[in-house]
Amino acid sequence: MIYADNAATTKISDKAFEKMLPFLQEQYGNASSQYSLGIKAKRAVEQARKQVAEAIGAQPAEITFTSGGSEANNWVLQGVTKLFKGEDIHIITSSIEHHSVLNVCRALETENIKVTYLQVNKNGLVLVDDVISAVKPNTKFVSIMLANNEIGTIQPIAEIGKYLHGKGILFHTDAVQAVGHIPVDINKLHVDFLSASAHKFNGAKGTGFLYKSASVDLPNLVFGGKQEHGYRAGTENVAGIVAAGYAIEENVKEMRKTAERLQAMVQTTVSEIRERIPDVWINGNAELRLPGTVNLGFNGVSGESLMNILDLKGVCVSTSSACNSGNDEPSHVLLALGVSEEQAKSAIRISYGKYNTIEEAEYVASAICDAYSKIKSAI
Ligand SMILES: Cc1ncc(COP(=O)(O)O)c(C=O)c1O
Repeated sequence: MIYADNAATTKISDKAFEKMLPFLQEQYGNASSQYSLGIKAKRAVEQARKQVAEAIGAQPAEITFTSGGSEANNWVLQGVTKLFKGEDIHIITSSIEHHSVLNVCRALETENIKVTYLQVNKNGLVLVDDVISAVKPNTKFVSIMLANNEIGTIQPIAEIGKYLHGKGILFHTDAVQAVGHIPVDINKLHVDFLSASAHKFNGAKGTGFLYKSASVDLPNLVFGGKQEHGYRAGTENVAGIVAAGYAIEENVKEMRKTAERLQAMVQTTVSEIRERIPDVWINGNAELRLPGTVNLGFNGVSGESLMNILDLKGVCVSTSSACNSGNDEPSHVLLALGVSEEQAKSAIRISYGKYNTIEEAEYVASAICDAYSKIKSAI
């Protein structure tokens, strides 16, 4: 099997796996227990908090572990709007956000909160000037993703953050696809909140985190015990949290080298496909992109048929985001780029990760070309 769908999820790293295991077996204590088994678990959680904080330039107290990216996004959007309860507030987001942001915004609209969904340009970029023009006197919150999950486009978060800083507008970025893959430093991004998810950076599923600047407030996510500084009550997922700490640390250490390898893989796949299918195109920005992710469009074939044939050949790619697969609708991200419905439905996303090789990237290219020819000859 060749797994080329790392934007959907990643394989846990050996080190993260090895470090989490004891907390499921010999050291299974509850991190709130006051005897040594519990104290050891608590120490491991705090060590992971330090590892995560260091990876993004934050303080450990600014990290709250969650069950993943969706939970972190839901918490910050719903939480911030609660801070302004009863006020007539306006928030800004983009039309290409993940559904764990977009669907919360839709729900907030039913509570009379005004939302502006910024359009992107044909390369999938949010323009800083568009953010500036959308700001109103009652704008209290902006949420723009750092890197898109379908096309990999990297947004100008630092520039947007610089503009918003000091204007009394809270700023959040969904960095689920970015953390552990490209440099992320909250001090350079000027964000108040940042969401991430461990299963996207070679940690385990079921763990993520929200960075919340010490200078801003947020209502509790789950009421109950005092876990996670009281923000998120409930017994901690110690093993998952430990894995997140080691996974992020390892990915950040290897980041430059991994990114070079991933770029070479993407280049290999795209250039080999181009030789046999000259009219293939890249959806989204060709340069400002995550190193391992590329979204390709093919004239006159459906991405779903390509994906299914590739599956039979043992190659895993996706037609759009994992959360949307099984959905017949064309991707909202691709439609936002201005492509037609038919073009959007022809797309496949290839996302390489640190365990892929150049040989696999070559095989993926030839498998895609063979699948394409097979579909074309049957039409
Ligand atoms: C950009 C983005 N945000 C949020 C999420 C949700 O993360 P999780 O799967 O941890 O809930 C994803 C997952 O695909 C994502 O790609």
